[in-house]
Amino acid sequence: MDERQPLLPISSSHSNIVNNSNENNGNYKAKRFWAAIIVGIVCICIVNLIFLPRTSLGRDLRRIHGAKLPVSEVKRIFLNSLDTENHAREWLKQYTYEPHLAGDGYDLVEFTEQKFKEFGLKTEIETFYIWLNRPVDAHLKLLDKDSNVIYNPNLQEDKLPEDETSMLNNSVPIFHGYSANGNVTGKFTFANYGSKSDFEILEKSGVNVHGTICIMRYEKIFRGLKVKHAQQNGCIGAILYSDPYDDGEITVKNGYESYPNGPARNPSSVQRGSVEYFTDYPGDPTTIGHGSTKNCKRNSPKDYIPNIPSIPVSYRTIEPILAELNGIGPDLNWIGNLENFTYTPGPSKLELNLFNLQEYNITPIYNVMGKIDGILPEEQIIIGNHRDSWTFGAGDPNSGSATLLEVARAYGDLIKQGFKPLRTIVFASWDGEEYSMLGSTEFGETHSKFLQKKTLAYLNLDVSVTGTHFSAQANPLLEKSIHDVASKVPFEGATLFDYWHKQDNATIDFPGSGTDFAVFQNHLGIPIVNMGFDANGKTDPVYHYHSNYDSFKWMDTFADPDYKRHNCMAKFLGLLGLSLSEREVCFVSPEDYSTRIKEYYESFYKEIPTRWFNYYIDSAYLKYNRRNIIKQLQKLDEDTSPKFNSLLILFEINMNKLIETSKNYDSYIKDLQTQVEQDYPWFKFFNKLVLLIRIKLANLKLSHLDRMFLDNEALENRTWMKHTIFAPHRDLGYTGDVLPGLHEAIMRNDFNDAVKWLDILISKFQSVIKKLS
Ligand SMILES: *[C@@H]1O[C@H](CO)[C@@H](O)[C@H](O)[C@H]1NC(C)=O
Ligand SMILES: *[C@@H]1O[C@H](CO)[C@@H](O)[C@H](O)[C@H]1NC(C)=O
Ligand SMILES: *[C@@H]1O[C@H](CO)[C@@H](O)[C@H](O)[C@H]1NC(C)=O
Ligand SMILES: *[C@@H]1O[C@H](CO)[C@@H](O)[C@H](O)[C@H]1NC(C)=O
Ligand SMILES: *[C@@H]1O[C@H](CO)[C@@H](O)[C@H](O)[C@H]1NC(C)=O
Repeated sequence: MDERQPLLPISSSHSNIVNNSNENNGNYKAKRFWAAIIVGIVCICIVNLIFLPRTSLGRDLRRIHGAKLPVSEVKRIFLNSLDTENHAREWLKQYTYEPHLAGDGYDLVEFTEQKFKEFGLKTEIETFYIWLNRPVDAHLKLLDKDSNVIYNPNLQEDKLPEDETSMLNNSVPIFHGYSANGNVTGKFTFANYGSKSDFEILEKSGVNVHGTICIMRYEKIFRGLKVKHAQQNGCIGAILYSDPYDDGEITVKNGYESYPNGPARNPSSVQRGSVEYFTDYPGDPTTIGHGSTKNCKRNSPKDYIPNIPSIPVSYRTIEPILAELNGIGPDLNWIGNLENFTYTPGPSKLELNLFNLQEYNITPIYNVMGKIDGILPEEQIIIGNHRDSWTFGAGDPNSGSATLLEVARAYGDLIKQGFKPLRTIVFASWDGEEYSMLGSTEFGETHSKFLQKKTLAYLNLDVSVTGTHFSAQANPLLEKSIHDVASKVPFEGATLFDYWHKQDNATIDFPGSGTDFAVFQNHLGIPIVNMGFDANGKTDPVYHYHSNYDSFKWMDTFADPDYKRHNCMAKFLGLLGLSLSEREVCFVSPEDYSTRIKEYYESFYKEIPTRWFNYYIDSAYLKYNRRNIIKQLQKLDEDTSPKFNSLLILFEINMNKLIETSKNYDSYIKDLQTQVEQDYPWFKFFNKLVLLIRIKLANLKLSHLDRMFLDNEALENRTWMKHTIFAPHRDLGYTGDVLPGLHEAIMRNDFNDAVKWLDILISKFQSVIKKLS
């Protein structure tokens, strides 16, 4: 053992080598051996490095964090999950077997949570405490001259043996969410759709609605505004009904049978719904601006809900009452489908008694949240749909709930295969949307700071399927991504985009309100998209909105019997979620945003009173950058006291500059994304590092861009609406208005307010231009 050569001849000295040739020889061999090994290792390393696969930054990011699937594979597996299985019918059946008003149906809370868990999501149930009403009693009585009751209709919807759930004894009575209690008796009038202009027409025609019970039909504008307008015009009560005229082609008059035998409206069907003024403020009307937590402060709700009683009824119920108005009052060219009514406004000779009793309480409601943690936890997207319904809610909202579960299921399949999203993905099953976006609004108000810091976009689904007409509303930042994703969703032998383009040029509307995206877009400045297949009003079966007949049976026989559109929606929503979560550079387009603002501005430019142009502006209304703006105006005007015309020119100059700047930024981020996907050899790691930093900076700007348009100088009497670019239209409700402060000032003929808003907008534009330059 002792004679053996040491493995490492470290102790061998030069003299040893000279003096002992045997030893010398052995040492030399060993040296050669070790040299060869080292050279070998170096060679292997070099060869390895040379042939080391070139990788992209995108792939590196995922690999470092143990995410196994490349993006293309993620999308393929996702679509495949939805192609091979479709559980929409099963989920829908579960969600629609019982009525589930806000706070009711805790079994569906548990069901949703359990499914989220099954699909690999981290879940949480968040409770809010909401002041809201439940129906107790209501009636409508027509009285003769001696106050005898001559007509006392049953207000409830018919039980249809063909539609199982309509037979249930616990179905929800007809009522309005947030309606006022009352027992009023008086003459009655008809005010068509109850819009501002309808009441103006009545006034001009000398019809006095003051002190009457006002009957209006649904459609055109949000129902709460109908009641508000009636109240503002001195009415003592309001009754809303659904006129088959507004169902389009599919009517009994046109020879169609009514539900359940055919696609036309069932004559007893009633549209329930909230009458809270969500155009001013959605959410719990006693907790304006903060979350409805258990022991929170509460304010009086009186400015946010009507104070005159209102109820919804069917056209069958109201027809004999309206017939009492025949021939009374001027012919206003109002038309409808009730054969015994001449659509004259009255007022009636007979009196009507309207009784409405609601019970108001603080009621707990439950949002179910499910989360998939991303590689970049500081960025997230939220996908939401509400769960509560006025009745059974097959279309509204549970076609959406079924779709949402399908998306979660397919994401679950991805998780099983090692998927980890780049950004965190949060699923939300909201409660209390029907009463006025309660769950989402209280969530948004409670977590506002956190949400504004992290959320890139909110994707909303309410009604996923009630017909064949595809529609989308979105913040224009998301238009490109929406169109891009639609062109990747297979549908009806082509793509969803082809279908949509054939339908209406794939038009995307501006965000309005009336669904859960409200708090995100209008209050928090988080870009939103909302989408679904609606009834087209032409060939589709009539959708029994907020009625007992929005049932599983109706969906299963009339609306989407093969659940193909549910499936298409799941593919679209899920793929959009993945596109927004997985694209390294945020998939948004500032250019689309700014060009759309200009388009809309040009659409109402003509409404600016021409006499304004020569008015001198009162600089007291330049609240933001008075000195700066006046300097710029003086340059433009060559006058020390600038005129409105110059202010408008300055506004347009800045708007155009915003377009120019965002165009450049769009091409910059496009270029960044190309680089992320590009493969680099290992020794260019420094380039990757620089790229990573540039992306981080770009994403910070892009994800906070919409927030830069928020302002505390709120719209008149609408302090909660913080966004200077988007708001629900004040007089319409569901429809969106763009540059609402300026637009409203023009419509109200308020010169100084217009000056104020131009100033605000110029300052917003300038700060965004600075940010993107
Ligand atoms: C509803 O109540 C009626 C009368 O009490 C009863 O005959 C009927 O079976 C009940 N229907 C259901 C579906 O429970
Ligand atoms: C409503 O008021 C009338 C008198 O105007 C009264 O006779 C009737 O009992 C009241 N109805 C209810 C349900 O309180
Ligand atoms: C219309 O009025 C006639 C005559 O009063 C009546 O027979 C008919 O049932 C009414 N139609 C409806 C739909 O109420
Ligand atoms: C689509 O756009 C084209 C060209 O802009 C226009 O002619 C056409 O009327 C539009 N179609 C629809 C359905 O909007
Ligand atoms: C705002 O509220 C005040 C007081 O109620 C009212 O006079 C004014 O008309 C409101 N403005 C708008 C735009 O509704």
